[in-house]
Amino acid sequence: MKLSAVAAPAIKAEGDVLVVGHYAEERRPTPTLAALDKALDGMATAVLKAERFEGKPNHVSHFYTAGRIPAKRVLVVGLGKRADLDMEGVRRATASALRRARELGAKIVSAELMGERLTPRARAQAMAEGAILGTYAFERHKKEKSNRIVDELRVVDADRRRRSQVQEGLSRGEVFAAAACYARDLVNEPANLVTPGYLAKAAGDIAREGKLKLTVYDRAECQKLGMGAYLGVAQGSQEPPKFIHLTYTPRQRSRKRVAIIGKGITFDAGGLDLKTAEGMVRMKDDMSGAAAVLGIFRSLPSLGLPLEIHGVIAAAENMPSGSAQRPGDIVRAMNGTTIEIGNTDAEGRLTLADALAYAVKVVKPDEIIDLATLTHACVIALGNLCSGVMWNNKPLADRILAAAESAGEKMWPLPLLEEYKELLKSDVADLNNVGPRGGGALTAGLFLKEFAGAVPWVHIDIAGTAFTEKDLPLGPKGGTGAGVRTMLTYLHTLAGRK
Ligand code: BES
Ligand code: MN
Ligand code: ZN
Repeated sequence: MKLSAVAAPAIKAEGDVLVVGHYAEERRPTPTLAALDKALDGMATAVLKAERFEGKPNHVSHFYTAGRIPAKRVLVVGLGKRADLDMEGVRRATASALRRARELGAKIVSAELMGERLTPRARAQAMAEGAILGTYAFERHKKEKSNRIVDELRVVDADRRRRSQVQEGLSRGEVFAAAACYARDLVNEPANLVTPGYLAKAAGDIAREGKLKLTVYDRAECQKLGMGAYLGVAQGSQEPPKFIHLTYTPRQRSRKRVAIIGKGITFDAGGLDLKTAEGMVRMKDDMSGAAAVLGIFRSLPSLGLPLEIHGVIAAAENMPSGSAQRPGDIVRAMNGTTIEIGNTDAEGRLTLADALAYAVKVVKPDEIIDLATLTHACVIALGNLCSGVMWNNKPLADRILAAAESAGEKMWPLPLLEEYKELLKSDVADLNNVGPRGGGALTAGLFLKEFAGAVPWVHIDIAGTAFTEKDLPLGPKGGTGAGVRTMLTYLHTLAGRK
């Protein structure tokens, strides 16, 4: 979708559809609606009245303009109460409006800049994100594709002085949303296509296009590095493991070195502790953390942030076979910690243990953030709309949570209680990889904490949020791109950008 900023009054805008907002509980129409009424002999308010349109969030109504204004149709979208309209409200309103415009077969859509309580940049960013995320579709493997696609969104605003800020917001929103959609595509692709080797190739494409540094370690090299925990998970699969390390180095002096780690299990069958059929159906999404990392790195070159950013993915497939890791096996992670395998299905933390140990030892970052579809327990605790956040450093966690809030991605703290560490005790090794059922998200987090050492670290459990079984305001069933926009927002703040 092409995005542009147009300095003009909304009623002068051209296009198949003109989108205007409407607040709930307000008697007086917005200036745009009043202008439309004047041009259309009161038709706008008459239609809304006849339809009992109340401006409830995301309600949409439309009518023809019969050549009285340049736009062929007007589409009115409810914004809810004026005082409540935040960036997320603008995203959702734009998403609803563009989906309706798409249904109507519109190719060119003009939309007035919505959300006047926000800065022009934030308003435009939210509209770009809502438009792109809200009309996302994954149809690559379907013979019949819907040919209804909105080609262009023109954001219309009469105030010329803020046009450059609007333009900036649109570009940022476009980059953020494209990164999330890239992650969605990777998650939606099946596990017979997206193997560890495929992720390594995708990283290769991203590195080539963006002139980033890339190192991919194969099984033998990981062996040499001492990544016994990671390789134990990979050993049951026919698909060779790939340990991926991407580096973005800024042109300017770097303010900080950040490592972002993504869980990259391309399919989680559970290993010898095999999952049930029901538990396995969706397990192609167990690489959503890795998909987020790749989406983020694809966008870094165009953002040009003054940060040194490392992306680390220990990609593997967790399968049962004659060569698979057994319950009771003992493995040694790169930092020397030995681990008894209590359950082969708790494989994510094993791969992340080596990814964390590698980041600490080789990258030596100022901070580490990991994104992982780690535990079903987190889904039980927070459901499918909220990710769990754990940390060894509160100030870092506060910054991540603030970024999530601004990105409109729901995240909530879970406590890493020191008292629960004993639940991971092993009789024969330094740690067991599983604890009891209760507090499963926390023991997983406590396990990871052992490998972050003294580096400030935040763990985001996206098990519930990475994939949706029903359509959401900002996207259809399938991969969601969870974590991508939060991390890009976070990196912007870290870089000192507003
Ligand atoms: N990938 C799963 C976690 C998961 C479950 C994500 C459901 C999304 C939806 C992870 O590898 C796993 O199997 N975790 C087990 C750990 C248990 C064996 C301690 C779990 O959460 O059941
Ligand atoms: Mn598992
Ligand atoms: Zn898993």
